[in-house]
Amino acid sequence: DWIMGDYIAEAVEKIRAQVGDEEVILGLSGGVDSSVAAALIHRAIGDQLTCVFVDHGLLRLNEGDMVMDMFAGKLHAKVIRVDASELFLGELAGVTDPEQKRKIIGRLFVDVFKAEAAKLKAGDGGHKGATFLAQGTIYPDVVESGGTKTKKATTIKSHHNVGGLPEQLGLKLLEPLRELFKDEVRALGVALGLPAEMVYRHPFPGPGLGVRILGEVKQQYADLLRRADAIFIEELRNTIDPATGKSWYDLTSQAFAVFLPVKSVGVMGDGRTYDYVVALRAVQTSDFMTADWAELPYAMLKRTSGRIINEVRGINRVTYDVSSKPPATIEWE
Ligand code: XMP
Repeated sequence: DWIMGDYIAEAVEKIRAQVGDEEVILGLSGGVDSSVAAALIHRAIGDQLTCVFVDHGLLRLNEGDMVMDMFAGKLHAKVIRVDASELFLGELAGVTDPEQKRKIIGRLFVDVFKAEAAKLKAGDGGHKGATFLAQGTIYPDVVESGGTKTKKATTIKSHHNVGGLPEQLGLKLLEPLRELFKDEVRALGVALGLPAEMVYRHPFPGPGLGVRILGEVKQQYADLLRRADAIFIEELRNTIDPATGKSWYDLTSQAFAVFLPVKSVGVMGDGRTYDYVVALRAVQTSDFMTADWAELPYAMLKRTSGRIINEVRGINRVTYDVSSKPPATIEWE
C-alpha cells in the first residue's frame, strides 16, 4: 500500500545518504531479518552491496539453493556463497554435547564470515574495499541488548547471534531495520517483493540441524533428517484447517523434525528393518518463552509418518513430541 511505499522510499533515501558511494557487506542467513535487510539495501544501492552466505551444511532441504535463487537469481544481488560444510562437519566429528556443538558452530561461522569480509574489505586492483557491515538487527534485538529487558540469571542455551563483529572488522554499521518490529519487517519484505513463503517462515536456529541431530552430527544423519523434515513441512503447508481456512504451517509457530540416533526394529515387506527414529515437533506460542505442543490432526500425522517411513529409507519409526515448554524446551538440544 501507499504507506509502505512511502516508508520504502524514505528508507532507501536514508541508506543512500549514509552509504554514499561506499560498499557494504551483509551476512545472509536465509532468515527473515537478514533477507529483508538485504532486499532493502539492494533496492537502495544495488551492486554496492555484497551478500555473504555461509552454508554450514546444516540447513534444511534445498535451502541454500533457494537463497541463491532468490537473491542472486531473482533480485540480481551480488551474493557470495561459501560452502563450508566440510569444515563444520569435520570440527563437529565426535562432539556430542549440545553447548559444545553450539560453540563450535558459532565460532566457525564467525571465522568463515570474517575471512570473506576481510577479502571484501581489502578490495582489489582499482576496486576499493567495503567500509560498511549491514545487519538485520530489529527493534526487539536493540531493546534486548540495551538491557531494558531483564536478563535471565542463567543462560539455558547460548545463541551465537553475533555481536561486536563490525568493531572487530573495522567496519561501520548499517542497520536499516533497527526501528521495526517483526511484523513490520515481514510487511516490508512482502512490499519489497520477497515471497510471503519466505517472509512468514518459522524461525530456524543459527546452529541449524546441528541442534536437531541429537548427539554427534554426521552427514548421513543430516541427509536423512533434511528429507524427513521437508515431508513434515510440506504436509503442514498442504493441510488446511477447515475452521480457520489456514494451513497447519500457519497455525503453528515452529515445526520441524528431530533426528534420534537410536535404532529400532520394524518390518517392511517380508523383511525386518533396524533403522533410525525421527521425532516430529510442532508448537504454538506467542513469545517462544512458553509453548504448547500443537494438536495436529491425526490424519495429517498419519500421512506424514507414512510418507517419511516409505520415502526415507533409513528411518522406520516416527514419533510425535507431546511436551510443552516448560519444562521441555522447543528444540531438543
Ligand atoms: P528453546 O529450545 O530454548 O528455543 O525453547 C526457543 C527459540 O529459540 C530458538 N533457538 C535458537 N536460535 N540459536 C538460535 O539462533 C540457537 O542456538 C538456538 N537455540 C534455540 C528455537 O528454535 C526457538 O525458536
